[in-house]
Amino acid sequence: MNILFIGDVTGSPGRNMIETYLPKLREKYRPGMTIINGENAAAGKGINKKIYKQFLEWGAHVITMGNHTWDKKEIFEFIDDANNLVRPANFPEGTPGKGIVYININGTEVAVINAQGRTFLPAIDDPFRKLDELVETARKRTNIIFVDFHAEATSEKQAMGWYLDGKVSAVAGTHTHTQTADERILPQGTAYITDVGMTGPYDSILGMDKETVMKKFLTSLPVRFEIDKEGRTQLNGLVISIDENTGSAYNIERILINDDHPFME
Ligand SMILES: [Fe+2]
Ligand SMILES: [Fe+2]
Repeated sequence: MNILFIGDVTGSPGRNMIETYLPKLREKYRPGMTIINGENAAAGKGINKKIYKQFLEWGAHVITMGNHTWDKKEIFEFIDDANNLVRPANFPEGTPGKGIVYININGTEVAVINAQGRTFLPAIDDPFRKLDELVETARKRTNIIFVDFHAEATSEKQAMGWYLDGKVSAVAGTHTHTQTADERILPQGTAYITDVGMTGPYDSILGMDKETVMKKFLTSLPVRFEIDKEGRTQLNGLVISIDENTGSAYNIERILINDDHPFME
């Protein structure tokens, strides 16, 4: 089974890229499952119900989140009923929503987990211990387990990759909005990348208007970050091939689409 994963979709430029390229990517890679990180989908911060539904209509099976999960207050109205949405599993006990979902793909069950790092991010529960617990439970149902580890530090993400090697099918990093070129299959069969990257404005700083971000660095004054809606756009993603019997990954390929790296059929 191929799993297609799209990195942090940012605002309308990111959503437009999904609408344009998801059909082409599905045609090219024939994924059994498509997962989108949607934590920045609504104007760069959070997600709303309309966008969540739109992603599912466009062919996504699961939407993963991150530190921006709660930025749109509307999330509290639909998260508990959103069966295809996962937020970081290591948020404190009692937090709305869920950190793991199981999706049935033609009789094969796939578990999708979202977790968040703690280095340079708010102090939440230990993602490693939480993953121990969730993976143990998930493996009673399926060998195919996909983890979106939403974290800032490359070291914490690499640690999670090695920690889960052989226990899950994939550990794909998100959050930094910058794709890393270290995709590999770890020795025990887990597909790994430190960061999948960001889908949205290309001539930007992590998806935000570059002028406002530069102003922040130059002045240290409070600046309201905006999304550049006029400029060029990019799509960052990943496709992983998994042996359905063992849950081990045997191939991983980065997807990078922008004016410097045009899409190839
Ligand atoms: Fe993000
Ligand atoms: Fe994030």
